[in-house]
Amino acid sequence: MTVTFKKLHSTFAAEVSEIDLRHVQDEHTLAQLRAGMAEFGVLVFKNQHFSNQEQLDFAQRMDGALHAKTSSAVLAKNRFGNEALTDISNVGQDGSILDASDRRRVSSISNRLWHTDASFENPAGRYSMLYARNIPPVRADTQFADMRAAYDALDAETKATIDRLHVYHSIVYSRHIMGFDFSAEESAKLQGATHPLVRICEGSPRKSLYLASHAAHIIEWQIPEGRLLLKDLMEHATQPQFVWSHEWELNDLVIWDNRTTMHRARSFDDIKYKRELTRVTTLDLPRQQVASAA
Ligand SMILES: [Fe+2]
Repeated sequence: MTVTFKKLHSTFAAEVSEIDLRHVQDEHTLAQLRAGMAEFGVLVFKNQHFSNQEQLDFAQRMDGALHAKTSSAVLAKNRFGNEALTDISNVGQDGSILDASDRRRVSSISNRLWHTDASFENPAGRYSMLYARNIPPVRADTQFADMRAAYDALDAETKATIDRLHVYHSIVYSRHIMGFDFSAEESAKLQGATHPLVRICEGSPRKSLYLASHAAHIIEWQIPEGRLLLKDLMEHATQPQFVWSHEWELNDLVIWDNRTTMHRARSFDDIKYKRELTRVTTLDLPRQQVASAA
């Protein structure tokens, strides 16, 4: 089938024409969706009706190998029995709302900082696919930042300075500075990873800033100098002209490319209202490796 895209922001993000992703099997349609991801960075699909397995199956068809090494897997046993289906919710195993002091909740508060998924792993996350199964009666938006538009807007001197730099990403670091510490045993499973600061992804010739709250320091520079540069770049990349907010409706699926966007959760009264979403993130492997890893 032919897929069309309606732009949601002047530089990125689009809503996809009516489609039931459970039944999208053909390469022709999947290739159009991947091309849409390369162009827009964020795609919104309305009225999806996934079971857990159907969401996992679609993610695999769309992009191959799935990420199962998430920080939430380190903190608690997954209530779905599959670590590739990340539980983005404020409820526990029994379905009741987590207490304010629950470690899973306290750790997840840091998802309200700008980040990209699994940048502290190698391979990192490529696409994240977040599906709304239960939403609160109040706004609980997810915001996205266009990291290619942010790169384009840098001056030539800054671009030349940062093009060859590498960044160490660590969730142990990003959670620690927010006041949450993993145990020694947990930290041992979260070693962090190094990635280029500027990236080019397949399907688009444009460069992108690869940043996240997890970005701890720049490999080639002294730590304080690197942190200052990272703070400046984060401030630059999250200016209002680069940001788009998604207001969730039930059964929305939003897919974003972690290499060309950052995102953050906005706060809501999560002690009062339930919010249950499931996320599948794919591995950022070179395309030719995906088929063998899937
Ligand atoms: Fe995230």
